[in-house]
Amino acid sequence: MEEKNHIYPIFDRMMTRKDKEELLGQHSVMIWFTGLSGSGKSTIAIALERELHKRGLLCRILDGDNIRSGINNNLGFSETDRVENIRRIAEVSKLFLDSGIITIAAFISPNNDIREMAANIIGKDDFLEVFVSTPLEECEKRDVKGLYAKARRGEIQNFTGISAPFEVPEHPALSLDTSKLSLEESVNRLLEMVLPKIEKK
Ligand code: ADX
Repeated sequence: MEEKNHIYPIFDRMMTRKDKEELLGQHSVMIWFTGLSGSGKSTIAIALERELHKRGLLCRILDGDNIRSGINNNLGFSETDRVENIRRIAEVSKLFLDSGIITIAAFISPNNDIREMAANIIGKDDFLEVFVSTPLEECEKRDVKGLYAKARRGEIQNFTGISAPFEVPEHPALSLDTSKLSLEESVNRLLEMVLPKIEKK
């Protein structure tokens, strides 16, 4: 019995991020999209994931569809709730990164403090901030979900860009204005930036 404790000492630890990155043949990074509602964050995230997947790279997208309807379905859009929304997303992202997975988040994350908090949770070295800088006028013109019209009519409170602030990021790794760039151009710029960080030498 006593011997048993000494049989598999090497298994006495969890597999590390490095072990998992080696298994997957990739380095994991966090690609953090920030920008107004309707700016194109999720569309770009999905197109990027497809391109990376094609190259044999494993990704996980976190966006409103899978987070605000699930783990964060008890949160609204007050400042406090937005902070908690992003804090949980950053913690969940960290779990994916620690599993060696390229993690892509697409949330408004409307101010510098919120994005700084996310970067600190995740670790600044792995955190690539991408500002989807499509102007408000363009997002409002698209109004894919009809929410800008509602916000203008006062039917939604605290709507980012209308009745709640959006702070432009100070030093994003990349800015993409989807009123000027095609989806393909945006994805190409992203690939240029991320592939050298992801692909194992
Ligand atoms: S964040 O500010 O907390 O980062 P998040 O990206 O999760 O926001 O959610 C934004 C999405 O929620 C918008 O694209 C929109 O569809 C919806 N939404 C509903 N109410 C609001 C609001 N008051 N402000 C911004 N987005 C809202």
